[in-house]
Amino acid sequence: MDKIIVVGPASQMLGMNLYRELKLASENDSLITCINTETKTFPDGENYLRLNIDDETLIEGKEVIIIQSTGPSSDGDQNSRIFELFMMVDAVKRMGSSKIIIVIPYLAYARQDKIFRPGESQFANVILRIINSLQIDELYVVDVHAPGVLKELIVNKVVNIDSMKVLADHVKSLGAKDIVVVSPDNGAIERSKAFAKHFGEDVPVEFFEKKRDVKTGEILMQGQLTLKNKDVVIADDIIATGGTMATAIKLSRESGANKIFAVATHALLLQQARFRILNAGADYIIGTDSIDNEVSKVSLAKAISDYLK
Ligand code: R5P
Repeated sequence: MDKIIVVGPASQMLGMNLYRELKLASENDSLITCINTETKTFPDGENYLRLNIDDETLIEGKEVIIIQSTGPSSDGDQNSRIFELFMMVDAVKRMGSSKIIIVIPYLAYARQDKIFRPGESQFANVILRIINSLQIDELYVVDVHAPGVLKELIVNKVVNIDSMKVLADHVKSLGAKDIVVVSPDNGAIERSKAFAKHFGEDVPVEFFEKKRDVKTGEILMQGQLTLKNKDVVIADDIIATGGTMATAIKLSRESGANKIFAVATHALLLQQARFRILNAGADYIIGTDSIDNEVSKVSLAKAISDYLK
């Protein structure tokens, strides 16, 4: 069946790489078409998006894959990214697509999965309920912050793609040896254990105790680990302001670490995150192209296309 891939404004690099991977995997690559979009913001702040096509019948009866990450960047905050995604879905539905698959590499609001203080909204669930209302056929996300929230979805197929293998392969390619995987908080320890397996069966996993003040956001982290002469891979799902990562790096340095690899699936790198992380003593910052920036060293295209081809 013909497939159309609509490359959202927030996933231009990953979208094009995914298009290439899908063509490589296809027996007849002329059946796969790629469409870009154009966007603007109206003077009153409203978002606008159109698919870059003149003939709407191109979409009719086709399976459409829409890829759009929803992380903030210099040319769009997460709310704009989410609205653009809704507009793409609405447009292809109106044009008569036969199947709609959406790929949201970074799912915004996923960290608002619980009530931390009285009076809050559990907004991650609301985002998923809105996705339900779009009546799509399949949804793919990558390393979503709290996978439990996906239970809210009523979509035929939902996949939370794991980026650990491609991230670990990249760290290995940089020559890391005598590795210890360090989890920047005890909540992420299971994920760190699974990550460590990609470096070898016996690769140790250590963790720091982290507490975040829910009012101020301030991080308190402590721990003394045995990291002397070890290459340390600190793995987290998200780097936002870099506070968690920088604190874990500083403590790892104090514990005698050799090289330090700061690794995250979604390296948002907000505010002065780059400076904080490098200044704390990281040798490398590595993220995936779920977020399009200069540390997006690892592409998710192949991992996603393996599910879609
Ligand atoms: C929190 O639970 C996440 O897994 C990350 O540790 C957090 O989002 C990182 O935020 P920041 O970079 O601002 O410390």
